[in-house]
Amino acid sequence: MRLSRYFLPVLKETPAEAQIVSHRLMLRAGMIKQSASGIYSWLPLGFKVLRKIENIVHEEQIRAGHIPFQMPTLQSADLWRESGRYDDYGEEMLRMKDRHGRDLLFTPTAEELVTDIFRSHVSSYKDLPLTLYQIQWKFRDEIRPRFGVMRGREFYMKDGYNFDLTKEDALHAYNRHLVSYLRTYERMGLQAIPMRADSGPIGGDDTHEFLVLAETGESEVFYDSVITDLKFGDRDIDYDSHEQCQAVMEEFTGRYARTDETHDEAAFEAQVPQERRRTARGIEVGQIFYFGTKYSEPMGATVQGHDGKPVPVHMGSHGIGVSRLLGAIIEASHDDKGIIWPEGVTPFHCGIVNLKQGDEEADAACDALYQSLRALGLEPLYDDRKERAGGKFATMDLIGLPWRITVGPRGLKNGVVELTCRQTGESEELPPEQAVAKVAQIYAEM
Ligand SMILES: Nc1ncnc2c1ncn2[C@@H]1O[C@H](COP(=O)(O)OP(=O)(O)O)[C@@H](O)[C@H]1O
Ligand SMILES: [Mg+2]
Repeated sequence: MRLSRYFLPVLKETPAEAQIVSHRLMLRAGMIKQSASGIYSWLPLGFKVLRKIENIVHEEQIRAGHIPFQMPTLQSADLWRESGRYDDYGEEMLRMKDRHGRDLLFTPTAEELVTDIFRSHVSSYKDLPLTLYQIQWKFRDEIRPRFGVMRGREFYMKDGYNFDLTKEDALHAYNRHLVSYLRTYERMGLQAIPMRADSGPIGGDDTHEFLVLAETGESEVFYDSVITDLKFGDRDIDYDSHEQCQAVMEEFTGRYARTDETHDEAAFEAQVPQERRRTARGIEVGQIFYFGTKYSEPMGATVQGHDGKPVPVHMGSHGIGVSRLLGAIIEASHDDKGIIWPEGVTPFHCGIVNLKQGDEEADAACDALYQSLRALGLEPLYDDRKERAGGKFATMDLIGLPWRITVGPRGLKNGVVELTCRQTGESEELPPEQAVAKVAQIYAEM
């Protein structure tokens, strides 16, 4: 992409309404524009990162054996009356009527709808296990939407639902989700710690939230500091193996880590030596639940068991806050100049800054770099505007591409360009082909 042809409405001024850094930076970098309270348009740069995050979520869900599909955003109230949640859900549910006076709602979550699909089409234990998931817009009429995409009213969420014959199988599905989530967040450059949480309106007993530690997080968290040393890395895992998934589950949840809702000071003191006790704040980027037959029983989602008798299926649901993740990643990775995208989610792989637009040699060198990067399957963003170098650097730093190649007549005389790392600020002079090769190498290793 050439910046002169792109749509990147960066703001010079810091928007007054934004209270936290990620919200400020998303507005300043032209990633989102508020349309109504807690409702945003995703401008091209923000949309690109949203898609990257979404793709990682898809890849990791499919790797775990989960099946993508899509349900509508508008649902009939009838199914929610069956489960009893139409009245329970309260003011957060956006309700409306169609022209025939029928009650509709904008999906805040979709346990009822997916259970209805299941009971209509699945009747035997032989069709289990089954996990269906979607990435779809949700609406919750939050009392206090704030912090931009972090707590929106309309937000993009991955929601997955497992159907299993037994509790044991459903707990395996729970563990499988835990493992796939650890991989998912690490690919985005995030450490998200599973913490014991409260189940809220979804109901159920077993639930963990995944929290990214950040001062601006809305949850207070309490944990054993050794937890932050755990890394999933690129372990090879067999998602069908109950033992392997269980082992990861125990490794990552075996230490004290809880949100304020379930925190128990006495247990904290008993289980964790004082020097390892940490109290901090965190951003919830996902949550997994096992809730057994809470929906399958009232809604009649049964299968024929081994003995031919109908048994209600054991279920769980599992969410990732896809749009919230943009905010969480920026909270975890920025400096006073702007965003620093982890390579896994960056909107463009590499920036190209032409210090002297219109100079024949500099323009030709930039064009050549642009083509070589693209030929290697990378997406560069070439700042080809007739602007001062300072302005170009400020824009690149603000939008946070991990790598930048700077091209100017002086370097070209010596046959070099400059390759700069956004994270460390370090630069090195290299012949253009080597700069391209180095950038390609970094992304190839991911
Ligand atoms: N209002 C919101 N804005 C953005 N993301 C949200 C919002 N509410 C929930 N999410 C994200 O969706 C994920 C799954 O939702 P869920 O656990 O049902 O939400 P909650 O715990 O807030 O009730 C959460 O972990 C969070 O990352
Ligand atoms: Mg939650």
